[in-house]
Amino acid sequence: MTSLIMIFGATGDLAKRKLFPSLYRLFSKNKLDKFAVIGVARRPLSNDEFQQSVKDSVLSALGNKDNLDEFVSHFYYQSHDVADSNSYVSLKKFADEIDTNYKLEGNRIFYLAMAPEFFGPIALHLKSDGLTDVTGYKRLVIEKPFGHDLASAKELNKQIRTAFSEEEVYRIDHYLGKEMVRNIEVIRFANAIFEPLWNNRYISNIQITSSETLGVEERGRYYESSGALRDMLQNHMMQMVALLAMEPPIKLTTDEIRSEKVRVFRALRTVDGEEVNQFFVRGQYGEGTIEDEQVPKYRDEPMVDKESNTETFVAGKIMIDNFRWAGVPFYIRTGKRMTTKSTKIVIQFKDIPMNLYYQTEKMLNPNLLVIHIQPEEGITLHLNAKKAGGHLDAQTVKLSFANTGIHAMNTPEGYEKLLFDCMRGDATNFTHWDEVAYSWAFVDKISEVWEKTKESFPNYQSGTMGPKETDELLEKDGYFWWPVT
Ligand code: BG6
Repeated sequence: MTSLIMIFGATGDLAKRKLFPSLYRLFSKNKLDKFAVIGVARRPLSNDEFQQSVKDSVLSALGNKDNLDEFVSHFYYQSHDVADSNSYVSLKKFADEIDTNYKLEGNRIFYLAMAPEFFGPIALHLKSDGLTDVTGYKRLVIEKPFGHDLASAKELNKQIRTAFSEEEVYRIDHYLGKEMVRNIEVIRFANAIFEPLWNNRYISNIQITSSETLGVEERGRYYESSGALRDMLQNHMMQMVALLAMEPPIKLTTDEIRSEKVRVFRALRTVDGEEVNQFFVRGQYGEGTIEDEQVPKYRDEPMVDKESNTETFVAGKIMIDNFRWAGVPFYIRTGKRMTTKSTKIVIQFKDIPMNLYYQTEKMLNPNLLVIHIQPEEGITLHLNAKKAGGHLDAQTVKLSFANTGIHAMNTPEGYEKLLFDCMRGDATNFTHWDEVAYSWAFVDKISEVWEKTKESFPNYQSGTMGPKETDELLEKDGYFWWPVT
């Protein structure tokens, strides 16, 4: 791949924790043939200091590595004021020089790894100050959050689209870089035993859980204006819903896959007004114990309002009103300071028409397909079989497949894949504007209601699976959450 990568926010956390190690991994696999990186940030740094910080971040993420000096020799630094045209003019001059020296064919990736208020202004400057006048390709990689609601997302989109076309915009949702999230489509569309059953005739409900044990850490300021709804549901959770619910694409092209996902978003049942609190539950963590450690309540975290009304947990029931899914609830829950760090999807199949067999003293368990996204990666199919030696008793047997050798949780692999996709020009695993717009429209209705009313927080203890209403959400429909631990 031949490209000049410009990282805005190169001294920040994301660059250090994910981007530099990911680039190193691509480099060590010989996937970067001609490349250079210009790190851009406000603070003054020399190239040597910057290269040292890149080295440190690779070492701390990946341990001792070969050819590190050669790798970091491709990195340059430019101190920059995002609001000042002169800064962009000198950045352009520098970028043109590097482009010529490394024969990068005018290919440019602009990676915005910084606070969202700068996304729009940077995009506008990139165009007006000539950085996007290139002979090769130009691509914009943009981190979340993409706006705060539909109106602000539209505004941001308008600004970036003055400089980049939709095909040139790569909106990151790092869940789409996860191996098992990418596997959802393959499991569905490459197996004759699943596809015919993948609908409301055979599936009773789908449960998606993404739980974290960490609290809000140092991100209180951002999180206060976001909450779990915007931080996790609007993007990662909705993307998993779309992949589980979409129709088979006619071809595996970016456009076909994205348009099938968009059709799912179009079929989402809007939850509005009074229905919000019937379909969604919000929570905020109180004190508690996680892995034997006493942890404070959310309201005592740094940069958090003592009276905060921000939710750190959200659970909900999402309905997709189309032929395939009418009547099948997609239950989702996600939150911080929960029992365990785990992302799992459980597909619960309907009961068989008549129960001939019993499990000791209870009815047969339904068939489940569990997709383990993280930390384990794999799938488990729960079936019923005869209990050895028993008379007519059945027992659940589990067929499991584990993706061994890959433990992708919080490692750079997801970013590595996404960066490589962007260099190859493959936008399939990035979110299209229409997906963003539909999911904001859905989420806005919920936040409108929640922002108007104060909840009596905290309402779940740290180290638990959220407020009790989360269980009631399923009990009302005759279901329960399948354990994820
Ligand atoms: C991010 C959120 O997008 O995803 C964080 O902003 C959250 O709040 C993180 O912790 C979870 O990602 P992962 O990959 O650890 O499940």
